[in-house]
Amino acid sequence: MEKKDFVYEGKAKRVYTTESPDLAIVEYKDDATAFDGTKRGTIESKGIINNLMSAMIFEQLEKAGILTHFERCLDDRNMLVKLVQIIPIEVVVRNIVAGSLSKRLGLDEGTRLSQRVIELYYKCDELHDPMINEDHVLAMNLAGADELIVIRKLAISINEFLVPFFAKANLQVVDFKLEFGRFKGQIILADEISPDTCRLWDAETGEKLDKDRFRRDLGGETEAYIEVLNRLKGAR
Ligand code: TMP
Ligand code: ASP
Repeated sequence: MEKKDFVYEGKAKRVYTTESPDLAIVEYKDDATAFDGTKRGTIESKGIINNLMSAMIFEQLEKAGILTHFERCLDDRNMLVKLVQIIPIEVVVRNIVAGSLSKRLGLDEGTRLSQRVIELYYKCDELHDPMINEDHVLAMNLAGADELIVIRKLAISINEFLVPFFAKANLQVVDFKLEFGRFKGQIILADEISPDTCRLWDAETGEKLDKDRFRRDLGGETEAYIEVLNRLKGAR
């Protein structure tokens, strides 16, 4: 399958149409941004690692009965996916306090939450992705009530899948961000699942093996991403 027309460039990926109206090609870039694009850089080989890791996770999610946009990897950086209509909501699932939750509620990073927390953010760069609730989603017609129920159920199921999946690789899933899309009347998981969109901590040492290495200038980003990929491969 070949790239036809360029559709969209995001911070970490480019999207192209294909000869099939139902399929798109996602190209994963090495570009890294944080804090609303105010911090910019590159993480060498990130695009390759995130493409391969997302593919591996999408495949396993499909086996577990969770629909995703993933079709197949075309090469190291390019993934064939279903061309979905993205729902403009970023769904964050949290198991352990970190990042913006720690700041917002004054909780120590690393505090285990007594139940997972699901947060919704309006995907809108100009507004800096503000946090919203289910009423905002309905009032702004971002998604319907039935869709919200499905999105919430899927987010919970994906968390229930990811926690033991990463535990086999000796990694704690602290939190992660999901995006969903509409495809032929169904809501399916889109975007990516990678150290760009998840916080992953070594289960024993708590070492950060995710994009916080870039956000917080810790260094060793590529090594951390490769470590996660290799551990997942070893755990299969
Ligand atoms: P936060 O603590 O900064 O709100 O991030 C929560 C999770 O969502 C974390 O795993 C990183 C991920 N995330 C993204 O994938 N994209 C984003 O733009 C933001 C802000 C967070
Ligand atoms: N990707 C987001 C940005 O560039 C933020 C993040 O992942 O921290 O703004």
